[in-house]
Amino acid sequence: MSQPLALLGGPKVRSRPFPSWPVFGKEEERRLLETLHSGKWGKLHGLQTQEFERRFAAMHGCAHGVAVVNGTVSLRIALMAAGIEAEDEVIVPPYTFLATATAVLEANAVPVFADVDLETFNLDPTAVRAAITPRTRAIIPVHMGGQVADMDAFRRLAKERDLVVIEDAAHAHCAATASGAAGSFGQMSSFSFQSSKNLTCGEGGIVLCSDDRLAAACRSIHNCGRLESGAWYEHHVMSGNYRLGEFQAAVLNAQLDRLAEQTATRDRNGQWLARRLGEIPGVHPQKRPADCTRHSYHLFLFRLDGEAFGAPREAVLEALRAEGIPVSAGYALPLYRQPLFLNRAFGPYLPVARKRLDYATAHCPNCEEICSRQGAWLEQNLLLGSLDDMQDIVRAFEKVHQRRADLVARASA
Ligand SMILES: Cc1ncc(COP(=O)(O)O)c(C=O)c1O
Repeated sequence: MSQPLALLGGPKVRSRPFPSWPVFGKEEERRLLETLHSGKWGKLHGLQTQEFERRFAAMHGCAHGVAVVNGTVSLRIALMAAGIEAEDEVIVPPYTFLATATAVLEANAVPVFADVDLETFNLDPTAVRAAITPRTRAIIPVHMGGQVADMDAFRRLAKERDLVVIEDAAHAHCAATASGAAGSFGQMSSFSFQSSKNLTCGEGGIVLCSDDRLAAACRSIHNCGRLESGAWYEHHVMSGNYRLGEFQAAVLNAQLDRLAEQTATRDRNGQWLARRLGEIPGVHPQKRPADCTRHSYHLFLFRLDGEAFGAPREAVLEALRAEGIPVSAGYALPLYRQPLFLNRAFGPYLPVARKRLDYATAHCPNCEEICSRQGAWLEQNLLLGSLDDMQDIVRAFEKVHQRRADLVARASA
């Protein structure tokens, strides 16, 4: 029998910290100083953003990249470029960060929630098909945790029903399937470079696409409605200044040098962890489809079935944290249960549609099960560790499982 749980006064499995994030070095310093001394700090004059757009788009099999201030604005710009009109419907998953749905609201369109698959945590094509109405114009699949959603199914459905597909690839830098890279499947895709992301400059985002017309539309919308061939004081469409700055792009260019190797490390560790943790009763790591060739593991997602494990999720996660493993229960509720949706607190958006919308009746059972009972995740920086680090994670799970009766006894004491 293992030693007593750390939660109950025993020794911790792990006292050392996991790798910290972000990782940076001399190349960030060099590029930042070069940018500083150049005096060209804005995208319109410098070369860093241009270089980054080119490299990041090419890495993801796309012809164009338009770098912007964050991964929420990039989604909204993609929706606007796609010609989404007021009160059109856009299908999104409820198991995602708020921005996937609020970007739709900020485009004055209606987010419609379709359930996720219990095994993959990704948007379920069958649920999406059922959610389509005559008002539906677009689907935004999220590559949850960094695992590419079922893009073959979404592309087929979009073709059949004349819909636009915009990938929310905020978690999926460098992820891929046998058919291509994350970001290259939809008409457009959106990535985030916010602090926690696998590629970061603090705050940033990008829209990728391969269609020249859509790229020109995104470029115009992110640059005050200007045209590339037009005059400076000539503004053609509703838009704003959403351009990424040169300092952010300087950091991203340096970070990009490490991305392929870091992704390979995360994917190797993630697959190893999934195999080992999946041997523990009640622990179900995110199912990897056969065509997944690279998972970016922004998150290592798993379900913890308390009944099969022998102790409830919250108690297990608390015990793991006490053993030195930072683990989270993830999104606590489906997006449609956020007060924003329940109260239709949409500000100036959707003045007409809000009268008929009632998000209190939304029901996505898999998402509800994941949020309220089974979902959990480890963050990407842990997966940058060594095999030794991964073994500590497994040891902690095994210890908590062996000592599960102590957790139950503690709860009923
Ligand atoms: C799935 C998803 N979509 C969109 C975003 C929005 O990105 P940002 O924070 O850069 O606006 C995030 C960021 O956390 C995200 O996780």
